[in-house]
Amino acid sequence: MRHILITGGAGFIGSHVVRLFVNKYPDDEIINLDKLTYAGNLSNLSDLEGKPNYKFIKADISDYDAIRKIFETLKIDGVIHLAAESHVDRSITDPFSFAKTNVIGTLNLLQSAKDAWRENYEGKLFYHISTDEVYGALNFNESRFTEETRYDPHSPYSASKASSDHFVRAYHDTYGLPVVLSNCSNNYGPYQFPEKLIPLFINNIRYNKPLPVYGKGENVRDWLYVEDHARAIDLIFHRGRVGQTYNIGGGNEWKNIDLIKLLIKTTDRLLGREMGASEKLITFVTDRAGHDLRYAIDASKLRNELGWTPSLQFEEGIDQTVRWYLEHQEWLDSVTSGEYQNYYRRMYGE
Ligand code: NAD
Ligand code: DAU
Repeated sequence: MRHILITGGAGFIGSHVVRLFVNKYPDDEIINLDKLTYAGNLSNLSDLEGKPNYKFIKADISDYDAIRKIFETLKIDGVIHLAAESHVDRSITDPFSFAKTNVIGTLNLLQSAKDAWRENYEGKLFYHISTDEVYGALNFNESRFTEETRYDPHSPYSASKASSDHFVRAYHDTYGLPVVLSNCSNNYGPYQFPEKLIPLFINNIRYNKPLPVYGKGENVRDWLYVEDHARAIDLIFHRGRVGQTYNIGGGNEWKNIDLIKLLIKTTDRLLGREMGASEKLITFVTDRAGHDLRYAIDASKLRNELGWTPSLQFEEGIDQTVRWYLEHQEWLDSVTSGEYQNYYRRMYGE
């Protein structure tokens, strides 16, 4: 039995990765390590409770002693590291939390893995999940980010992720730690915390609340359905080349304002409102500081080496996603009320 440590498994992307691995690899033990910050919602994985190959550990990756102990006591063979502070706006008001979790936390995991594996790296792998934001911002006429694009982060969030990426590569180059990295574009889908654009706006449309569009809504993001990201992570973890970086992206660039109008049409239709009626909720607000104009990923390396392609057309993915949030209003309500934070105590008695 292999023991796979997945950090940040109670978060948005992590929960999809944990579910995929627990169900697909019954002979592997999947250990979900998460601090359960505001972004961690363990009820996202309630369907896995009691499965023999699933274990949850509440721990903070910025606590070196706790992380070392976990590596000393559990025979970890592989790490898929997703735990992070992930919201750009929060990084602007509280950059220190981002340095602590994203940089120091990653370093703690690297050092603990290196020491536990004691340079006998046979069968071991440290997989670091990163973001396209480390590459900076593109103009409208520039070609997409490749794995060779120079790092140029602009927000405290992307600076902290860039720093963690550098540490991961440094552990490979200096100590020979077997690592692999991937840098992905914007994800969307079920279980995303409603501070991020898509779930926030679906919830606000539902309650007829203003939709705060930063600046003129001209920024472009490259959207990928979260389960396609989880599938890419599975492929890279099992078949990626050690020491390599893979870009993951949807090939699906949308200007924010166009995406918001699509979201409004879809949500109005599913709510039985006149299509487009909620456009009156659009409210242009002060732009995000240092707001990157455009992200776009060239994922041809992943496609050519491992045969990965996104499975969903965007309109279909948005339809599916809006339906999910509307059909799971109790999920959105428990998150916005804070009730979701009681789940761990109820289930684990702490
Ligand atoms: P998220 O904010 O939804 O979840 C993060 C998880 O990490 C939460 O469960 C939280 O409790 C946990 N966590 C935070 N600090 C921790 C700590 N100190 N110790 C242990 N656990 C801690 O994030 P997400 O959107 O699922 O992103 C997951 C990863 O993927 C991040 O590394 C992010 O940088 C990267 N990523 C995200 C996107 C995206 O569009 N969301 C795109 C590319 C890459
Ligand atoms: O590109 C990958 C990144 O995508 C991940 O690394 C981050 O963890 C993830 O949060 C996401 O970052 P963004 O900043 O692109 O996502 P967000 O949902 O916050 O914003 C998407 C776009 O919408 C961005 O241009 C800012 C804009 N926006 C966002 C919010 C929350 C608004 O106009 N209004 C809003 O209220």
